[in-house]
Amino acid sequence: MAFKLLASLLALAALSNAALIKKATCADGRTTANAACCVLFPILDDIQENLFDGGECGEEVHESLRLTFHDAIGFSPALFKQGKFGGGGADGSIITFDTIETPFHANGGIDEIVDAQKPFVAKHNISAGDFIQFAGAIGVSNCPGAPRLEFRLGRPDAKQPSPDLLVPEPFDDVTKILNRFADAGFSSDEVVALLASHTIAAADHVDETIPGTPFDSTPNVFDSQFFIETQLKGTLFPGTAGNQGEALSPLHGEIRLQSDGDLARDSRTACEWQSFVNNQSKLQRAFKAAMAKLAVTGQDTRKLIDCSDVIPVPKALTGKAHFPAGFSKADVDQACAATPFPTLPTDPGPVTSVPPVPPS
Ligand code: HEM
Repeated sequence: MAFKLLASLLALAALSNAALIKKATCADGRTTANAACCVLFPILDDIQENLFDGGECGEEVHESLRLTFHDAIGFSPALFKQGKFGGGGADGSIITFDTIETPFHANGGIDEIVDAQKPFVAKHNISAGDFIQFAGAIGVSNCPGAPRLEFRLGRPDAKQPSPDLLVPEPFDDVTKILNRFADAGFSSDEVVALLASHTIAAADHVDETIPGTPFDSTPNVFDSQFFIETQLKGTLFPGTAGNQGEALSPLHGEIRLQSDGDLARDSRTACEWQSFVNNQSKLQRAFKAAMAKLAVTGQDTRKLIDCSDVIPVPKALTGKAHFPAGFSKADVDQACAATPFPTLPTDPGPVTSVPPVPPS
């Protein structure tokens, strides 16, 4: 009996010891599950202070999130099957081979954040592919309502640039967009989840006369307003008419991409689109899972180390899903045949205009 008790006590001690050993304490006192992740804390601090203006969810965060996608989607098994180089996915090639990739048409405006991130990659001992995904995950953590994204470390340097024409364009039709994503390994539900990124986003180059025009009324908050507002009937162009890839928007100061408007209304994606309205926990779960996949596109995940616990925990959402002032369910283009659009409150007051995202 005494022997049994001693044995179980010893087993318990061994277990808690293992748990203690597993957690590494880094030089600055912060802890992480794996000592190899300690190198990330000084990079995290530098990014927050000097790239994201002290931890904002502003323009650089939006651009850094866009960059995670434009780097990762440069991966095409279909091209490899044809015996061509199909790209290395989330390998940092958009920074390493920036003179080749940033001029691709679909990468319009991406040179700004590439130029802003390059000195950080040069200064720290980290690959461009790791840096892009790390900065994206940290950036998203600055946006209230966002999920805490995963981060894996260890992408090798890119050896070749991505081929052109792999990044979707806002004027592509839904079939072309879904086929491109399917080639890279993403289902239509995952495409919709990834587009939650457009809730913290603005366009500088779709209509060059109105830079910083957001896709929803709350571009600094990770909420479901993007999914609500893209479903409202479009009535106006916030700037000039006739821009390639732009659709009518419901609100002054807000821009709608043709691709977002189409995906919100297509029978293959409309119900998933609508399902995120007023369902913050589903939105967070789906975006987190799809981003985890995007961030390792084309990579050998067995060689990556899970450093997710280095990513800060985002603040919770405070606002509630709503129709912008002056709008109601009557303004919704009902596209999901299976389920009616959720009932939402309307913001009080007269119809407003959405202010632009300021440059920083
Ligand atoms: C159908 C696929 C997509 C299309 C056609 C598309 C297109 C665009 C376009 C045209 C812009 C505006 C760029 C500008 O004029 O400055 C933009 C911005 C943005 N996109 Fe997408 N996008 C797609 C998917 C994604 C995905 C999957 C992500 C991330 C996971 C993403 C993240 C962003 C972000 C964060 C911005 C805002 C950048 C800023 O505010 O500076 N997009 N997108």
